[in-house]
Amino acid sequence: MKFSRIHSLQGSLEIPGDKSISHRSVMFGALAKGTTEISHFLKGADCLSTISCFRSMGIGIEEKDGKILVHGNGLRGLKRPDKVLDCGNSGTTVRLISGILAGQDFDVTLTGDSSIQKRPMKRIVEPLSLMGAQIESVRGNGCAPLSIHGAPLKGISYSTPVASAQVKSAILLAGLYADGETRVTEPAPSRDHTERMLSAFGADVSSQGTTAVIRPAKELYGQSIQVPGDISSAAFFLAAGLLIPGSQILLKNVGVNPTRDGVIRVFERMGGKIETVRTDLRGGEPAADLLVTSGSLHGTVIEGDIIPTLIDELPVIAAAACFAEGETVIRDAGELKVKESNRIEAMVTNLQAMGADVTETEDGMIIRGGRPLHGAVIQSRNDHRIAMTFAVAALMADGETDIPQWDCVDISYPAFLSDLRSLAGR
Ligand code: S3P
Repeated sequence: MKFSRIHSLQGSLEIPGDKSISHRSVMFGALAKGTTEISHFLKGADCLSTISCFRSMGIGIEEKDGKILVHGNGLRGLKRPDKVLDCGNSGTTVRLISGILAGQDFDVTLTGDSSIQKRPMKRIVEPLSLMGAQIESVRGNGCAPLSIHGAPLKGISYSTPVASAQVKSAILLAGLYADGETRVTEPAPSRDHTERMLSAFGADVSSQGTTAVIRPAKELYGQSIQVPGDISSAAFFLAAGLLIPGSQILLKNVGVNPTRDGVIRVFERMGGKIETVRTDLRGGEPAADLLVTSGSLHGTVIEGDIIPTLIDELPVIAAAACFAEGETVIRDAGELKVKESNRIEAMVTNLQAMGADVTETEDGMIIRGGRPLHGAVIQSRNDHRIAMTFAVAALMADGETDIPQWDCVDISYPAFLSDLRSLAGR
């Protein structure tokens, strides 16, 4: 796919549904009694992988009048799939489903694409094993495929070495089936969609500081869920709207959960004009319309507890920092190395190919902004967020940028190109 400079973005955009919340609405709906009705569900490839896994376990899932209906079978209603569960490219699917499957009374194997088979699973295998789960990496390399032999579970108190909502959620979901209370403490708060939504489904879950606590559930109950727009998808247009001269865009119904909104806080700190013009509650999650007006940005330091709140947005923030005055330092972001690709290496290499002044560090990067970027051939590494980040960078660069591995954007934002075209007036 080829991109070149554009002159201003105008208009408004309904941001597609949040990926994390869409996954959870299907998973919890499958475990609930009754039907869960999901509107604004993200039909990206990752969430479709989740749907396909639950269909393989006997859950009826259909689309009706633009909504997804999940006909839950109750907490103990999943059936043994007659094949290996394919989680595609989705870390959320593998890790959260592992937590659910650890406490069932059947055996199952989970796998995914070549990227998933390289991502670390020890982080869930370890705590789930402490709960009594029989789960192992089939090749003994700490990655998927994972084989799970369902077993009785006991509650634990666990401190995670990394702030990860996927790890926290896997443990909490196993805790639904455990014989006592389960507590997970993180070094910094990660996204809390599981806690919010499980509680709406009737689970006994609460948070105290950086500790989430769950007690075993008797039953969950189907809900009607309106998924807010994905702030991680909105981030591409936040960056483009702030940086392309003469732009003003309205991004509608963006989820602004405080455990996810670090990108807004950082862009504001860099001098970006982002006005909240309307707020709302969608499915127990705060949402807002954001009016973005272009202007100049300056560098900043991004480190510490804010990192988990913008972990998926760091690629596009790094690209935006190339167009900001002065230096931007990103630290404490070693987790970027174990995402769909090594995002530190992918960002630094591709930004350098476009002429940026950027240095890779152990846990982040240093960007000296203000140097004009030029077009290049971008290696997306089949990572959706890397592909879209460089589409945005290309809109402000001289010459043409080619992103040959482009189809991966279907993972989280199938409508990215048409949304970009509508704001560009094409
Ligand atoms: C997600 C959590 C984050 C994020 C991922 C989705 C989730 O991963 O990067 O895209 O849905 O819980 P970690 O929890 O591993 O940081």
